[in-house]
This record gives sequence, C-alpha cells and structure tokens, in this order.
Amino acid sequence: MKQIITWGLSYSDYDSQRELYSLIADGDVEVVAEVKFFPEEEEIFGRRSSVEDAFNQPHDMVVYFGVDEADVRAELEKLGIPTEKEVLGGLGSLIGDRNSKILSDQVKVIKDLLEASDRQIADREWLFNKLGEYGFFPFFKLVKKPQTGVRYSSCGILQVPDEFVDFCLYLSKLKCQKAIEVGVYKGSSSYVMAALLYRNNPDLVYEMVDIEDGLVNYDEISKLIPAIRKRIPNTSADFKGQEYDYCFIDADHSYGAVMEDYRNVGQYATKLTVFHDVFGHEYDELDGGTVRGWRELKELNKDKEIVEFSKFPDKWMGIGVIKWM
Ligand SMILES: C[S@@+](CC[C@H](N)C(=O)[O-])C[C@H]1O[C@@H](n2cnc3c(N)ncnc32)[C@H](O)[C@@H]1O
Repeated sequence: MKQIITWGLSYSDYDSQRELYSLIADGDVEVVAEVKFFPEEEEIFGRRSSVEDAFNQPHDMVVYFGVDEADVRAELEKLGIPTEKEVLGGLGSLIGDRNSKILSDQVKVIKDLLEASDRQIADREWLFNKLGEYGFFPFFKLVKKPQTGVRYSSCGILQVPDEFVDFCLYLSKLKCQKAIEVGVYKGSSSYVMAALLYRNNPDLVYEMVDIEDGLVNYDEISKLIPAIRKRIPNTSADFKGQEYDYCFIDADHSYGAVMEDYRNVGQYATKLTVFHDVFGHEYDELDGGTVRGWRELKELNKDKEIVEFSKFPDKWMGIGVIKWM
C-alpha cells in the first residue's frame, strides 16, 4: 500500500478522484494528506493539510494534479522543504498499466462466461465473482463503500454490482435471436449481456447503437462473440419499427429521448425491453428524465409483467424490465 500526498487535486476533477478511489478500494493507495491552494476548495479525502504538516507525515509519494513536477519542487524549495528524497509523479505514474491490465482481464472474463456451465451461470456467487473481476465503474456512491470482490475502474461496467448481477442471472435464461442496445458507451456491460445471450444462441445478432464511438476492446471481443455489431454513429431512429427480442435502452437520459427510444424500438420488442437508471433522479431536471419516463411506461404497460432490479429503490440507478411474453 502506497501512502500518498495529493497536491492540488481539485474538487471538480471527478475523473482523477474516481481513479484514486479505485486504487483506494483495491487497497493500493492511502491518502495521508491533501494539499490545496484555494481556501474555498472543499477537501476530498478528509485529510486537508498545510504543506508543512503534509510533509511531516510518513509518505511514499507526492501525486500532483494540473501542475508540473518542476513547479512542485520549486514551491517546496521556497518553503524550505528538501525535495531530493521525495518521489513525485502525476496520476498516470500511480495508475501505471492498471487499466490496460483490467481490459485484458475483461477479455478473460468474457471467455469464462462463454465457457461456463449452465450451473455456474445460474450460481449468483460465481457470477458475482466473475463480474467483480471484470470490474465496475467507480461511481462515488460505490467506491466510498467498496464491496469485497469487486474491482473498480474507469473501464468497468456502469452499473451497481448487485443490481447488474441479479439482472444478468435473469437475462441468462433468455433465448433470443435479435438484440439491440441503445447507448453502449465503452461497451463494458454490452459485452457481458451479449455473452450471456450468445451462450444460449450462437445465431444471435446484438446491435450496439451509440452516437459516439467510445468502445474499447471491440475487435478482440467480437472474435469471441461474433454476434456483436457496432452501429455507430446511429440512434434508435435508424432502427425505427424493427422487431428485436431484446432491447436495452441506456442512451440520452432526458424524458423526451427515453420516450423516443421506446417509440422507435422499445415498443416493438417481443421478449424484453429494459431501461437503465429508472431511479436515476440526477436526470430529473431533463423534463423528468428517466424516472418520469419509466413511471409513465409502467403505467402504459400495466397489463404486462414489470420487473425491477434495484439496490437503491426510488433513489439511484435501477434496471426496469417490461416483459412482453
Ligand atoms: C450511460 S452511457 C451507456 C452506458 C452503457 N449502457 C453501460 O452500461 O456501460 C450513455 C451512452 O449513450 C450515448 N447516447 C447519448 N445520446 C444518444 C442517442 N440519442 N442515441 C444513442 N446513444 C446515445 C452516449 O454517447 C453514451 O455512450
């Protein structure tokens, strides 16, 4: 475990904070002090410190943000703090090849899912461990109370581990021919869902729709899951009226866009239509966002079976399913 001093990490630099929290959750790093230069800046790790107090703490490294190493050394020298023995580095030097290692581990997990027995796939603990190894995105709500057996990284699945594992157990029973996911981002959850469906049908076609290409590992994963098709840049309007067995909607989270995705493809699905963030109140200001959309769609389909997967019901995230048959 490396003990570090953060130097100048801004409260609004969420990406860096998430990366740091991922390292903390893995037990690789402990922040012993955070040095800030603006009195109004909120502390992040509850370790705000003057420069002098910070350097009096035992530490292995100083990790600086938004400045050069030369500037940090110059500042320390001005304060009379000797720098010869200090190890200084940016966040990249602390992260090293962690994220590329996680990406190659993800390929391994996809192989494991494809080769797993039906008994393993139906075993929640087995699946939880596999998806934990694959990794989840370090949302603050998650990394502040990290779950044992879950690895967090910016290339992880953008879901709550328990919700997604329960949903995957449910999905793994589905036999389908045609699937569409609207809003795939890096593809991290698409690959898992496509793998589970492909196990049940090698003739599956899984369309991955997005307006921007942020996919990682696509070429490697498509060799393992030939079912996946990159449909980027596209929106649900490009597939309007097409019938899919499975439709997963997680794109633009405004109310209007959720309803549009439903009208374009969601309503035509034959087996399942699934929405992410059905309790995601952070989108409320977008004309009611996903929460309003889900509420209305449940009402519209009240004669159908509705299933919800949620660890924070009515508060955050959540996966909502309309089962058509
Ligand atoms: C929350 S992310 C999707 C996360 C992904 N489903 C996962 O679980 O890893 C939302 C994605 O939707 C995409 N997006 C935004 N508006 C869109 C639209 N109108 N049609 C398709 N994709 C859209 C964004 O580019 C982004 O990649």
